[in-house]
Amino acid sequence: MKKIWIIIMVLLLSACEPVITSIPVFIYDMNDAYMTEFEAKIRANALGHFNVTRIDGQNSQIIQNEQIDNYLNEDYPVLIINPVDRLSVYAMIEKAKQIDAHLIFFNREPLAEDMALYDKLFYIGADAAESAELQASLVMDLFGNDPETLNQFDKNGDKIIQTVILKGEQGHQDAEARTKVVIESLKEAGYTLEVLDIIIANWDRNTAYGLTQSFMEMYQEDLELIISNNDAMALGAIDKLKEMKVFLDVNQDGSIDRDNEPWLPIVGIDGIAASLESIKQGYLYGTIVNDSDNMAKSIIELTDWILQDKDLADFPYPITDDKYVWIHYQKLSLEE
Ligand code: BGC
Repeated sequence: MKKIWIIIMVLLLSACEPVITSIPVFIYDMNDAYMTEFEAKIRANALGHFNVTRIDGQNSQIIQNEQIDNYLNEDYPVLIINPVDRLSVYAMIEKAKQIDAHLIFFNREPLAEDMALYDKLFYIGADAAESAELQASLVMDLFGNDPETLNQFDKNGDKIIQTVILKGEQGHQDAEARTKVVIESLKEAGYTLEVLDIIIANWDRNTAYGLTQSFMEMYQEDLELIISNNDAMALGAIDKLKEMKVFLDVNQDGSIDRDNEPWLPIVGIDGIAASLESIKQGYLYGTIVNDSDNMAKSIIELTDWILQDKDLADFPYPITDDKYVWIHYQKLSLEE
């Protein structure tokens, strides 16, 4: 008899628990090199906590809106969202409000006014200005850390750094801030920079590859540095520069000796696996790690805390303005 009562109690208790099938993770575009690695880290961190379902927005806000609509119901208390268009989150927030769901945005930051619409919204990301300041400091290392006497990489000895900037997607908070702040930071540190061109390559390796030949034909003589808003575009440029023999592994030992073999300075941001390889082989000078390890960890941790209804005052990562978790960037080159 006792046994039956225990079984009935267990059944009743489990009936009260909400059944969470899987937490949806919406990625703006699974063709994006950085987001592909990021998504894998989210999945790896979720193991042992809860299941996640990846949903690819295919770089279309219309597609992503439909996908999100399918999950905005009582079965899903938390939605993890990398929006396609960070300016188009208003409608999803209003719908989430009606069913009391939490939205965790990441990597593509909604406007502050949208974030203020509801108290169950979070953003996990990194401060783009910080990445640009660190990227500027990589450039300073490269040119010898003294604006008065630039080293041999100032090819024409005019004490001015002639550069081309590869820019990410227009309107993305990271592309805008990285482009502006890297220029400002170098100027503030006393360096003179001549921006020969800003080429928009939409964060994408193939696009950058396709655009490199034409800007090289225009500026190759003068060009002393390529500053890329991310690693994927830097790698695309490197692919083309290898073909053009601007980078040449003369002795074919698998790496570039920057003092003795043809090379053009180029810096990126992200720290994706392929760029670390490129740094080791001497092609990419350096990058700024856009710490998706810690972002993925904190996304999963935050989801867990929400699901368990734990007090966010004790959350292990600092939460600014009750909504923002900021993860720092780190500098990475062979010199570090
Ligand atoms: C990364 C880019 C990526 C973009 C996607 C940025 O933070 O640096 O590589 O394409 O996010 O939104």
